[in-house]
Amino acid sequence: MDAADHLPSRAQFVLFGALGDLAWRLVVPALFNLHLDGRLPQDFRLVGVDRGITPERLTERLRDGVHRFSRRGEPTADQWQGFASKLSAVMMDLRDREAYATLVDALDDRGSGDTTRVHYLAIPPGLFDAVADGLAGAGLNADERRTRIVVEKPLGHDLDSFRAIDASLRRHFAECQIYRMDHFLGKETVQNILALRFANPIFEPIWNRRYIDHVTVTVAEQIGVGHRAGYYETAGALRDMVQNHLIQLMCLVAMEPPVAYDADDIRNKKLDVLRACRRIRTEDVPAYAVRGQYADGWIEGARVTAYRDEPGIAPDSEVETYAAVKLLVDNWRWQDVPFYLRTGKRMTAAASEISIRFRDIPHNAFPANTGIDSQPVRLVIQIQPQEGIILKFMAKEPGSPLRLRPVDMRFAYGEAFGRQSPAAYETLLHDLLEGDATLFMRSDQVQAAWELLMPIIDAWQANPAADFPNYAAGSWGPEAAEHLLAHDGRTWLAPSQWHPGRVPATPHDGD
Ligand code: BG6
Repeated sequence: MDAADHLPSRAQFVLFGALGDLAWRLVVPALFNLHLDGRLPQDFRLVGVDRGITPERLTERLRDGVHRFSRRGEPTADQWQGFASKLSAVMMDLRDREAYATLVDALDDRGSGDTTRVHYLAIPPGLFDAVADGLAGAGLNADERRTRIVVEKPLGHDLDSFRAIDASLRRHFAECQIYRMDHFLGKETVQNILALRFANPIFEPIWNRRYIDHVTVTVAEQIGVGHRAGYYETAGALRDMVQNHLIQLMCLVAMEPPVAYDADDIRNKKLDVLRACRRIRTEDVPAYAVRGQYADGWIEGARVTAYRDEPGIAPDSEVETYAAVKLLVDNWRWQDVPFYLRTGKRMTAAASEISIRFRDIPHNAFPANTGIDSQPVRLVIQIQPQEGIILKFMAKEPGSPLRLRPVDMRFAYGEAFGRQSPAAYETLLHDLLEGDATLFMRSDQVQAAWELLMPIIDAWQANPAADFPNYAAGSWGPEAAEHLLAHDGRTWLAPSQWHPGRVPATPHDGD
């Protein structure tokens, strides 16, 4: 059955913060591509809400965003016109309760009760409360089945602030109406983790402590803080990436098989992983977590500045741009199998991947000199920029004498399917319009992730880093992150790439 079959026939997408960065860069280019693919409801209307908005400003701004950020590049005049005819603008101050009456008027011209309505909050979290109150005051939260509200991270900066934000939403909207975005969950490669594990009979029997030694999750970025200083200075790598994206990846690797591919079952199984994660005591944090901040350095031949010298960053900023965390999952499947999570900005390469490292062979029957560069078997799930799965194993070199060397067996999305993957936002916005919450985060999951990380947040706050900046831009992060694994007799491996030369060799190569 075509996925479009589940779409409602008419929908209003009310985009709060329509002139903002998120709408411009991500939300609208994704909606535009859904439009081009015929994957929007037949009768679709995008209502842009913002201060100082006019229909002309809205159209101009959104067209510019589509032009710059759509994966298909600049649209033709016809393509754009088809989409632009769906736009309308409502100027309002989101804190003004009275203004929501204007919004009701603007929306009510549909004159029909069967419209699916999405309130998309592409605005700072400080405004969530006011908008949720305003919507409820105007009756725009009614109809649990057809009315949805969408929020994006950061969902708080710690457990308490998350609870406050969540409470303000849940005061007026039922849990089934609240869609919490984690755009990593919309990435094709991330969704494929479940297909790999549960649509094939061969992985599940070995997906446990008997066969797996440890798992690493790496999300390495080359970009720096960019123009997001204001936000990033209040967040840092742990809150910005680990609390959501990396923990979600880990949950997909560690979860038990769902009974059915449905939102609640999958989210329950992911929550179980978080519930099983061993609590880190504040005093033990140094043994489980490492933070870093980039100094100046070189990336692909270009000089880049230190974090503290970036525009808008405090010259003595204590904010981490790198975080590595070791987590242990206390259950039958994963007892004593560490999950090492790391993420950083301004690293050697932009490469995100999950590496499942299998145990060593119990006995080596080959003569001592046969293994050159012997490597343990690994399954690598490449999230981006390469999209694929690699099984790394040992094979015999042709001829004699007997020599063994590591080889790769590869599945690459581009080659296998011969077409471009949709952007993560496209997948998620389509699911949202259909009312499928599987790839969205439930309140209890987000809360559990905060609970897990709070000891680290507290410990880091209580003890400012004495050694920042502690890694050069263009490196793989601080030395202390090496020690985190070395202490366990392990090492980080450089993300695998199948275009040799794209990633400079690092000391992490080899095991
Ligand atoms: C965002 C973070 O959620 O994810 C950014 O706030 C980060 O700091 C981004 O750069 C990475 O997402 P992607 O899809 O570009 O890898």
